[in-house]
Parts: sequence; structure tokens; C-alpha cells
Amino acid sequence: MKIKNICCIGAGYVGGPTMAVIAQKNPEINVTVVDLNKQRIAAWNDEDLSKLPVYEPGLDEVVKEARGRNLFFSTEVDRAIDEAEMVFISVNTPTKTYGEGKGMAADLKYVELCARQIARVSKGDKIVVEKSTLPVRTAQAVKSILDNTGNGFKFSILSNPEFLAEGTAVEDLQSPDRVLIGGEDTPEGKEAMQALVDIYASWVPKEQILTTNVWSSELSKLVANAFLAQRVSSINAISELCEATEADVDEVSRAIGKDSRIGPKFLKASVGFGGSCFQKDILNLVYISKSLGLNEVADYWEQVIIMNDYQKYRFAKKIITTLYNTIADKKIAFLGWAFKKDTNDTRESAAIYVAEHLLQEQAKIVVYDPKVTEEQIYSDLEYLGTLSSEDIMNRVTVVNDPYKAMDKAHAVAVLTEWDEFKSYDWDRVYENMMKPAFVFDGRRLLDEAEITEKGFKVYTIGK
Ligand code: NAD
Ligand code: UDX
Repeated sequence: MKIKNICCIGAGYVGGPTMAVIAQKNPEINVTVVDLNKQRIAAWNDEDLSKLPVYEPGLDEVVKEARGRNLFFSTEVDRAIDEAEMVFISVNTPTKTYGEGKGMAADLKYVELCARQIARVSKGDKIVVEKSTLPVRTAQAVKSILDNTGNGFKFSILSNPEFLAEGTAVEDLQSPDRVLIGGEDTPEGKEAMQALVDIYASWVPKEQILTTNVWSSELSKLVANAFLAQRVSSINAISELCEATEADVDEVSRAIGKDSRIGPKFLKASVGFGGSCFQKDILNLVYISKSLGLNEVADYWEQVIIMNDYQKYRFAKKIITTLYNTIADKKIAFLGWAFKKDTNDTRESAAIYVAEHLLQEQAKIVVYDPKVTEEQIYSDLEYLGTLSSEDIMNRVTVVNDPYKAMDKAHAVAVLTEWDEFKSYDWDRVYENMMKPAFVFDGRRLLDEAEITEKGFKVYTIGK
């Protein structure tokens, strides 16, 4: 079966870049990405490529090449579904904020709405691909909705989780470690899997395209994120031990990472992992395990989150105790707000939680981030629900000049590892800060010896 038209529901951090690369690599397939959010679609269609709603290095070039040729962004959801033989569901699946499973389970309401909409609109057989990260066995629910509310057409459900990391999305999509496709072991299931394999095979070597059953595929996505996050929490746990013993966590990372069984990646101690995926997916794994009565399994994975929350708290506490246990009305400059470098995404960023702790102590925070907007920063703090709007407005300032952020500050906190922070004129920064001038390096980004030599008192996680 040859696919000629693809529809992707959800033009977010995954739907947009993923479909842009699929369209780039398959010029003969029309790819239409749809979303209910009109503003987002307008931004994807903006002539000025710096206005794309997702900032990712290299994405503008891919969009420039494919948009208008075979890549389209639209709000006409029904039409795009109807015209496509293959529909990807790439909507958000956040942690539930209400009802059963509140704070743990994934909220599947957007996915269910998509399934109902596909069933209602379809005037022919379709392959439906789960691109969103979903709890294991969601495909069963999607299939049941499609079969029971559809117009009698056949629907094949595939699971095709996305493994891209933000900041390197284009690179990850163009040369993935693997593509995972889960499908049913039936003639229709196999045909559907082959159709999707053919799309990826345009640029991904065949041996890197793995096919499994649907449940293994759904579960593997949660497990991959849990394993990655667990490494960060493991090294962060060791970072505190290093601080108590004069071992250096980077040296420990290097020493253990050379063991080919351990490997060097995801061993960088930090103020804690953020992003829209790690915490959400582990909570989901914990919830599923608990629901199945697997309490030891649930407790094991929950510890990864507990450690991460502790690391953010520990960093904030270090700032407070170092600044003589009182930070009320002291100016603290935040370098970075995004959850990692090279993205404008702030979801679950450690910066938000460190700011919350410091604001509760009535500090004044001035934020500089090269890609995050002022509006986003205020909305992240409002969303916490623990700070009054008045406090947020009075105590937080966002500036677009880093030197202004650090001018007359008592301390600088590095919350994101943006490369540009390394090349600042730190002599000039030191001159204009309150003394003693402190730097709290939450990302182990700056050369500690160099910064200390300039006169700063430096705190580096794990040292
Ligand atoms: P996102 O919030 O950036 O985008 C989701 C989009 O879906 C939004 O623009 C929203 O308006 C749209 N949407 C929701 N319901 C809709 C509907 N019924 N019809 C049309 N549009 C609708 O989310 P994201 O970061 O792209 O994540 C999407 C999924 O991919 C999640 O399940 C996530 O866990 C998974 N994932 C994310 C990443 C990542 O790095 N962000 C990586 C791998 C997997
Ligand atoms: C993650 C997974 O890597 C990706 O495969 C999945 O598809 C989505 O979730 P993402 O959250 O975009 O990607 O970024 P990632 O590079 O994994 O970083 C997550 C967080 O962990 C960031 O806050 C990062 O700063 C932090 N981190 C990462 C560390 O603190 N130390 C490390 O060694 C690695």
C-alpha cells in the first residue's frame, strides 16, 4: 500500500518538526499538519521563518524546503483527516490535573477526541498512528472508539513513538538511533506497518527500523524516558555525595562513563531535569504499575522524581544559605529559563521551581533567556498557583540584555546551559555586581577556576 496523503493532528514540538522531516524526505507524499490552535498554525505559515512556533536549530531550513511543496499547515482538521490514508495523532498527553489519577496518570482526553473525530469524518479505511506518548494498551481504547463510532470502515492502529530530544530535534529526526513501529500481527496490521516502514525507509537504514507488537512499542517509549531520567537522577544523587566528600562529580562521570557497559551520555549532574516528557512519563509509568498492584515497581521509579525534586530544592536552598540566609529584596539574576539549551520550551524547567523557592523568600529575580519570551516566564510562574500575581509582577523582571540582568545583582544563577553564557565578559559582570558576588552554576557550564579567579564566589553542583 502506497501512502499519498498524510494528516498529522497536533502541530506542536513533535508534530511540527517530525512532519517537516517526513515531508522533506518524501517529496511525493502530501503532509498536512493540523491544529485547533489558529495562532500556532499561523506561525507555522509565517513568511518570516524566525517566527516559527518551535525554535529548533535547522528547522527553518527544512520548513523552507518543504512548505508549500508537500508540507502544509492548516486548521481544517476534518478535511485533512478525510483526505489522508494515514493519520498521525500527535496531540499533548499531559499529566492529569483532576479526578482519578490526578498528578500521575496521563490525560488522554485529547487523544480520545482525535479518535472520535477520525471516526466521524472518515469516508474510507485508514491507518491511525499513535505518535503521542501513551500508556501501554491505549491502542486498544483507540481501536474500540474507531470501530464503534466509525462509519463501518477499517482502521489499523500503529504505535510509532517519537524519540527526538528538543534542541536537537532535526538532527535526531534526520539520523535517528532507531524508529519504532508497533502493529498487530494480522494481515491488515502487517500491511499497515509496511506502509509506515516504507515512509521512514526513504532515509532511515532498514536495520534501524524496529517492528514490534503494539504494547511493546507503547511501553518502550515510557521505559526509554524512565531509563534516561534515572541516569540523571542517579548522577544528581552522587553530586550531593561528591559535595560532602570533595570528590568531583564530573570526574566521577568521566571515570564511570568510560565503562562501555555504562557509557558516557546522560551523566551530567545538573539542577535537575526538566522538559515536558521525563516527569510526565515516569509518573505515568508509576501510575500504571500501581494500578496493576506492582507497588515495588512503582516505588522504584517514583524515586527518580523524588530525587529530581530534591535536587531543585537543594540548589535553591544553597543560594539562600550562601547569601547569609536572607535573600529578601536581594537581586538574583537568572541566566536561562528554558529547560535546556537550544529550545524555547520551558515546560517543567528547573528554573521555574528554583524561582518559586526564592520568591517565597521574597527575593527579586531578573531573568534573561535568549529564546524565551517575557509572557511565557510570567505564565509559567502564574501556572504554579503558589505565588500571588502581585508578587510575581513586583518581584520578577525579564530583560533582553544579560548584562542588565546581572547589574547590581547579589548573585547569578545559571539555570540553562546556553553556550553564549560562556563567552560573556565576566570581568565586566563582576565589576557591576554587589560584593561579595556569587555565581551558582546549576549546569556546570562555566569554567569554575576562571570565574573564581575574577573574584566571584562560585558554587558548582557536585563540587
Ligand atoms: P504540544 O503541546 O507542543 O503540541 C500538541 C498540539 O496538539 C497543540 O498545539 C494542541 O493545540 C494540539 N491539539 C490538541 N488536541 C487537538 C485536537 N483535538 N485537534 C487538533 N489539535 C489538537 O505537545 P508536544 O510536545 O508536541 O507533544 C505531543 C506528544 O508527543 C505528547 O504525547 C508527548 O509526550 C510526545 N513527545 C514529546 C516530545 C517532546 O520533546 N516534546 C518528544 C517525544 C514525544
Ligand atoms: C527527552 C528524551 O531525551 C527524548 O528521547 C524524548 O523523545 C523526549 O524526552 P528532552 O526532554 O527534549 O528529550 O531533552 P533531554 O536532552 O532528554 O533533556 C531532558 C532534561 O534532562 C533537560 O533538562 C536536561 O538539561 C537534563 N539533563 C540531560 C541533565 O540534567 N543531565 C544530562 O546528562 C542529560
